Amino acid sequence: MIYSTYTNTNINDNVNKIKSKVPESFTPKIGLVLGSGLGSLAEQIQDPEHFSFFDLFGFGHSSVKGHKGTLTLGYLFGLPVACLQGRPHYYEGNDDDVMRTPIRTLKALGCEIVILTNAAASTNAEVKPGSLVLIKDHINFSFKSPLVGPNDDQFGPRFPPMDDAYDPELRQQFLAAANQLNIKLTEGVYFGVLGPAYETPAEIRAYTMLGANLVGMSTIPEVIVARHAGLKVAAISTVTNLACGLSDEKLNHDDVIVVAAKASNDLSRLLNLFMENLNVTA
Ligand code: HPA
Repeated sequence: MIYSTYTNTNINDNVNKIKSKVPESFTPKIGLVLGSGLGSLAEQIQDPEHFSFFDLFGFGHSSVKGHKGTLTLGYLFGLPVACLQGRPHYYEGNDDDVMRTPIRTLKALGCEIVILTNAAASTNAEVKPGSLVLIKDHINFSFKSPLVGPNDDQFGPRFPPMDDAYDPELRQQFLAAANQLNIKLTEGVYFGVLGPAYETPAEIRAYTMLGANLVGMSTIPEVIVARHAGLKVAAISTVTNLACGLSDEKLNHDDVIVVAAKASNDLSRLLNLFMENLNVTA
């Protein structure tokens, strides 16, 4: 097997390109990744500077409906952010390099924290579509890792630990903000699959026995790359549907987008308060 030979050149090229378009004093502190149907949050960014994924190196192409494929820099709720509207997935055929580069670019731009959002299925009928769930841990059932291949020591160690992947302090801050806003926020384990086919009822029964609270096709590769690079991570799923076999509804991606968009108001309020309370200087 030939691994794509990774060089740092495209990251530096991305950083130079982006920095040449934003004020010199601007350094994003928070990286945001907005999943299916959740992109509207990016419209609240003040003084935005937009970059299409097509104009950046190694960002892939966002082929999924509900994923715009834009990186936007600016101020969200008073803090300097770099926000990905859309993300690459393995099921689109992206290689490991594309799965690494957006997150490493966020790190190289100066981000210290990454907040990831996604659309996911709930394996618990009580946690209904429209609910927000804070991810507390994951199970990587895609058996893909963007860190396979030679390790790039300038980003992180060969064997990065994953025990505190979802930062305990950030999780507490999200729970406190949700409590203050009266938004129901439970915690759950995200079970990551390769996709793109939705699961069978038997698969969902098996995943539930293994500890899945949420099932989705994204996020874990980004968490692995971010933790390898020493970024703090928080992640929130919007439950867009009950997992296959738990309801009579037929699954389809258009419904996923509609439900996620409806829940994005709560997500936006939650992020707003969380970011207001964060101890990061603009
Ligand atoms: N399965 C996997 N990923 C998903 C689902 C699902 O049912 N809904 C949204 N993302």
